[in-house]
Amino acid sequence: MRKIVIAIDGPAASGKSTTARLVAQQLDYLHIDTGAMYRAITLRVLQENIPLGDVERIKALAEATTIRLERSDQGNKVFVDGRDVTEAIRSAKVTVNVSTVSSYQSVRAVLVREQRRIAAQGGVVLEGRDIGTVVLPNADLKIYMVADVAKRAERRKKELALMGTEVDHQKLEEEILERDRQDSTRESSPLRKAPDARELDTSDLTIDKQVEFVVQQARKIIEGN
Ligand code: DC
Repeated sequence: MRKIVIAIDGPAASGKSTTARLVAQQLDYLHIDTGAMYRAITLRVLQENIPLGDVERIKALAEATTIRLERSDQGNKVFVDGRDVTEAIRSAKVTVNVSTVSSYQSVRAVLVREQRRIAAQGGVVLEGRDIGTVVLPNADLKIYMVADVAKRAERRKKELALMGTEVDHQKLEEEILERDRQDSTRESSPLRKAPDARELDTSDLTIDKQVEFVVQQARKIIEGN
């Protein structure tokens, strides 16, 4: 059976991680959450107290850091230099700073090299902002996920509530829009829909439906139709 490469991109909180994880599960593929990799570097920058403008030190740190992603039922488990940082990379502090760290081309170069290495084996679902445009322009299937900001904030609110954090809906909408603004206006690999990506608006879709859509498209390609 042919093992294809699936790229899922889209703005913050559009449902990429959940969809990618479940699609990977159904196809028995590897799921790679590339946002988690940028979050992991951001966490290390904060832990080392490196000023966010110090590109040289951040680059050196990215080069010296080993990130490992492991499969789990909740999504990727993330290890940095052997330490489990799965929860730490979701903190509010990491979330507000990750767009700055991920805007640096030198950081992207390190992580994109690793993402391409993992994808080379096929049978992978990579999700992020630039997978279909920059990381894997030859991906077999490209999906661009979008959703109303109100729906995205609502989903994020529920996710955070499960982790015991209460955040105001309006504040979440603002944070999401600000991150989208930064991610789509940066110079290096901005968030864009690849011309050959299929757009999937998940505003009114259940998770099952959005997963089904991607799996159906994937199976067509795998079966050569
Ligand atoms: O998907 P996420 O919200 O966990 O991603 C965190 C940040 O990482 C996002 O705001 C921008 C950056 N990112 C990126 O620049 N390129 C990717 N392929 C994935 C994420």
